[in-house]
Amino acid sequence: MTTQVMAQRELQIRCEDDIVLVRQAVRVMAQQLGFDAFATAAVTTAASELARNVWTHAGGGSALLEEIRLAGRRGVRMHFRDQGPGIADLGRALAGGFSTARSLGLGLSGSKRLVDEFNVESTVGKGTVVVVAKWARFSSTTG
Ligand SMILES: Nc1ncnc2c1ncn2[C@@H]1O[C@H](COP(=O)(O)OP(=O)(O)OP(=O)(O)O)[C@@H](O)[C@H]1O
Ligand SMILES: [Mg+2]
Repeated sequence: MTTQVMAQRELQIRCEDDIVLVRQAVRVMAQQLGFDAFATAAVTTAASELARNVWTHAGGGSALLEEIRLAGRRGVRMHFRDQGPGIADLGRALAGGFSTARSLGLGLSGSKRLVDEFNVESTVGKGTVVVVAKWARFSSTTG
């Protein structure tokens, strides 16, 4: 069975304020899909951390937000793309506590814990793509 994309929206990340717009768009999408408050907070926090990474470490990029469906389950999938410097040591970046920006280094590892699916592809000198997905919990009212 393949994942169906029911709707999608692409937002550019060109300034710091765009991070807030991505966050708001993800919150609306999650609520419309019937995510509970906890899952909505989780997916919006992950979106904001990943959008912030695009801005801070790559100077900009894009966020593609998708409403997805698989076997009757609904979820949000997000693709964060940039053409920045890439991540030289992905293992270290994902382990947490490592930052090239003198920050806490918890954005990537924290985001990973907040979603159901998490994938990073990064090439030094070319850029980074982070794809994450989170599913709404099964519920009799939200189907
Ligand atoms: N899109 C990206 N492009 C290039 N490097 C990135 C990108 N995202 C993450 N990184 C690298 O991975 C490291 C870890 O990212 P992470 O988000 O965990 O921490 P951080 O952004 O440095 O700090 P914070 O805790 O504030 O998020 C970054 O310091 C940076 O070196
Ligand atoms: Mg970060």
